[in-house]
Amino acid sequence: MSALSLHPAPTVPLIRLERVSLTFDAGIVVALKDIDLSVYPTERIAALGHSGSGKTSLVNVMGGCDRASSGRVYWKGEELSHWSDWTRLRGIEIGIVFQDFLLLPALTAVENVEMAMVCRGVLQRERARRAAALLDEVGLGDRLSHLPNALSGGERQRVSIARSIANGPALLLADEPTGNLDTANAALVMDLLFRIQRDRGMAMLLVTHDESLAARCDRRIRLRDGRIVEDTSGSLETEGRR
Ligand SMILES: Nc1ncnc2c1ncn2[C@@H]1O[C@H](COP(=O)(O)OP(=O)(O)OP(=O)(O)O)[C@@H](O)[C@H]1O
Ligand SMILES: [Mg+2]
Repeated sequence: MSALSLHPAPTVPLIRLERVSLTFDAGIVVALKDIDLSVYPTERIAALGHSGSGKTSLVNVMGGCDRASSGRVYWKGEELSHWSDWTRLRGIEIGIVFQDFLLLPALTAVENVEMAMVCRGVLQRERARRAAALLDEVGLGDRLSHLPNALSGGERQRVSIARSIANGPALLLADEPTGNLDTANAALVMDLLFRIQRDRGMAMLLVTHDESLAARCDRRIRLRDGRIVEDTSGSLETEGRR
């Protein structure tokens, strides 16, 4: 065995949160408190916890929707020191699927997916081609021109999944993606999400209340009162201990 294989280079986390806190109302509401979390490439993590424990806050901070009140965030080892550093990640390297889909109601399914690519400077014809291919991949090849209100909940969520992966992200954040769906649609959407995550080699943080979905993940973290109180990776995350 070579020296190299005895000492393999440690994998750099895609994203690392170091003592991250998020507060509201001048510090009165503490949504996240001293979060240390590293997410590695291709990892499938479930985030569990009671209502109000901080799951959505965690997604918002990891996706660059909310700025941490304190602490540090690193992307592939590089600190995101300025809020503007997130511009190259948001919706590009990091895709988000929301519980309530957040589709633009006046745009068709294919236009909603296209919108995600506008910021990348992709030409309209190419955007349309890629968006149609993505919708085909999520089983909506025959719904391209439908407006969101002419789609079922499950179909809307599939459009939003197509949108979330439009720029080939390395990390997908899914915040209770089946929370608004009936059981049959929820199962369909989750199977799709897991398949896409695996096929595309993305890491995924899946917020869920469903222990059976969490069991399909490689790793589970549990939040309580804004803190990670359980992490099945073996340690309550601190850098370099993986
Ligand atoms: N914009 C905000 N202003 C003030 N407080 C907020 C804000 N967003 C979240 N909070 C508070 O932060 C805490 C964590 O909220 P968060 O939405 O992250 O919980 P959650 O775990 O996602 O809950 P749920 O399972 O109900 O979605 C809660 O106490 C919530 O009221
Ligand atoms: Mg939430």
